[in-house]
Amino acid sequence: MNIKSTLLASAIALMPFAAAASDLTIGFSQIGSESGWRAAETTVTKQEVAARGIQLKFADAQQKQENQISALRSFIAQGVDAILIAPVVATGWDEVLEEAQDADIPVILLDRTVDAPDDLYLTAVTSDLVHEGSVAGQWLVDDMAGADCRIVELQGTTGSSPAIDRKTGFENAISGHDNLEIVRSQTGDFTRSQGKVVMESFLKAEGGDNICALYAHNDDMAVGAIQAIKEAGLKPGTDIKIVAIDAVPDAHLAIANSEMNATIELTPNMAGPALDALAAYLADGTVPPKWIQTESRLYTAADDNQAIYEVKKGLGY
Ligand code: AHR
Repeated sequence: MNIKSTLLASAIALMPFAAAASDLTIGFSQIGSESGWRAAETTVTKQEVAARGIQLKFADAQQKQENQISALRSFIAQGVDAILIAPVVATGWDEVLEEAQDADIPVILLDRTVDAPDDLYLTAVTSDLVHEGSVAGQWLVDDMAGADCRIVELQGTTGSSPAIDRKTGFENAISGHDNLEIVRSQTGDFTRSQGKVVMESFLKAEGGDNICALYAHNDDMAVGAIQAIKEAGLKPGTDIKIVAIDAVPDAHLAIANSEMNATIELTPNMAGPALDALAAYLADGTVPPKWIQTESRLYTAADDNQAIYEVKKGLGY
C-alpha cells in the first residue's frame, strides 16, 4: 500500500459506520482558531457530529477561558445531552464542571487535559502530550549525534496542558545530553504570527549563527519562525534544524522543501472516538476509560512529505 492509500484507508476507518438520525443535541466549546490544526479539528468535529445526525451547538471562545465557562453555562441552561470542550488552559474548571455534573450532563475533554478531579468529566480524548515532547527531543538527540547545539524553544499558550507537557517531555529527552542546551524559551501562543515575532527576537538576541535548532510546540509557530529565519538570511532546516508538533499540511510541505526537519502527528479527529464513547455511555451506561489516547507518529525527511501534504489537503486539513 502506498502512502496515499494508507492515509485514505485510515481516514475512512475513522468515519462512523452508520449515520443514524438522532435526537441528541451536544454543545462544543472550541478554543478558537489559533492554528491550522485547530481549524482542522473544528472541521472534523462538525463532520463527525453531522455524520451521526446529532444537533450541534458550537461556541468559539476566541482563546478566552471566561468565554468557555459562559458557553458551558449556556449549554447547561439549554439542557444539552452532552458537552465537548477543548479547554484553553489547564486550571480553573472545577466549578463549571460541577455544575454540568449536577445537571447530569456528561462532559468530554478534547485534545487538552485539565487539573480537576477526573470524576468531573466522562473521558478525555487526547494524545500523550509529554510523549510528543519526548519524541521531538529524542529526534534532536539522535540528529545531533553528540554535536553541540544551542536550542531555542517556542512554547504554546501559557498555562495550557500541551505547552506544559510538551516542554516537560522535551526537557526529559535532552536531559543528560550535555551537548544540548535550551538557550531561549518563550511563548508564541500557538500562532504563526507570534512564532515569527518571537523567532525574530531570538535571532536578534542570540545571533543566527549561535542558534542550532528550534523546538516549536506546534507547526504553525514553526512555519512563522521559518519566515523569520529566511528573512535573517539563513536556511531553515539546514542552518537551524526545526522540529515541531501537529503534522499539519504546511509542515509536510516545509519538510518536502527541506525547510523543516521533523513533526509529530496529532490527529484532528478527537471527536470520532469521543462520540463513539458517548454513544455507548448513553446507550447502556458503558463507562469509557478516563483517557482515550490518540497516536503520536513522527514524520521526517525520510517520509514522502509531498504526497502526505496532498492527501491531507484533500481531506480538508
Ligand atoms: O491542543 C492541541 C494544540 O492546540 C495543537 O498542537 C495546536 O496547534 C493547537 O493550537
